[in-house]
Amino acid sequence: MSQSGGQNLRLVLFGPPGAGKGTQAHLLRDKLNLAHISSGDLFRNNLNNKTPLGLKAAEYMNQGQLVPDEVTIDIVLDKVLSLNSAEGFILDGFPRNRNQAEVLEKALTQRSRNIDKVVHIDVSQEELVRRLGGRYICRDCQAPHNINAMDSTQKDPKCEQCGGELYQREDDRSEAVQRRIQVYNDETVPVLDFYRERDLLLDVSGLNTVVNVYQDVLSGLGI
Ligand code: AP5
Ligand code: MG
Repeated sequence: MSQSGGQNLRLVLFGPPGAGKGTQAHLLRDKLNLAHISSGDLFRNNLNNKTPLGLKAAEYMNQGQLVPDEVTIDIVLDKVLSLNSAEGFILDGFPRNRNQAEVLEKALTQRSRNIDKVVHIDVSQEELVRRLGGRYICRDCQAPHNINAMDSTQKDPKCEQCGGELYQREDDRSEAVQRRIQVYNDETVPVLDFYRERDLLLDVSGLNTVVNVYQDVLSGLGI
């Protein structure tokens, strides 16, 4: 590991749609003072600002398909490589295919950097579908919320982190969710072998409570 206490770590959070990558990334970011780089959040921020990149990405996202590498890789690598070597990061939702994993490894190696751990959060398909059906995210900070666990007496629930407006993602419609899970199984699961070969994988069950998953991640990282 790069440094005791977890600061400076370079992590990948890996797992199917709805596994809890965003939820855990927000907790780990705050605890370990890491930059949180989420490819999905970058696309949604661009879409909110109606940039050409956001509008292009949305064509794929709304169908539950991967955004092409020509669009995705540069925007994520720009963020990663803009950090100085002392800054750690959490990559959430990237890499999602073998080409992305290879390009990331090459770019980091050229700068004498590396990934410390790939945290693989696994959750059954049935539970993923259930979670995504109840997921609302913040329009401002993108923090995910489970609407079923929130105070049901509140008429218009707001983000628990920043007070922003909550909304349901377009790609959380059931047809898009099924497609996202299929794309994950077909295109993203093979990346696990890439990291297993490099002895970087940390497998964590995502079926526990948020706090228990968080504790399992920290103890798996030796923190
Ligand atoms: P992205 O935004 O990355 O979505 P995703 O990978 O499908 O994952 P989600 O954000 O849906 O789930 P999550 O794992 O973050 O779960 P969360 O914490 O929110 O990507 C969206 C799209 O962008 C892709 O489909 C693709 O089109 C494009 N894209 C992005 N990256 C790309 C790339 N690299 N290449 C190409 N295209 C790319 O939690 C879900 C719900 O469960 C929440 O309600 C939460 O409160 C709840 N929850 C979390 N943990 C628990 C728990 N332990 N117990 C109970 N409930 C829980
Ligand atoms: Mg997410």
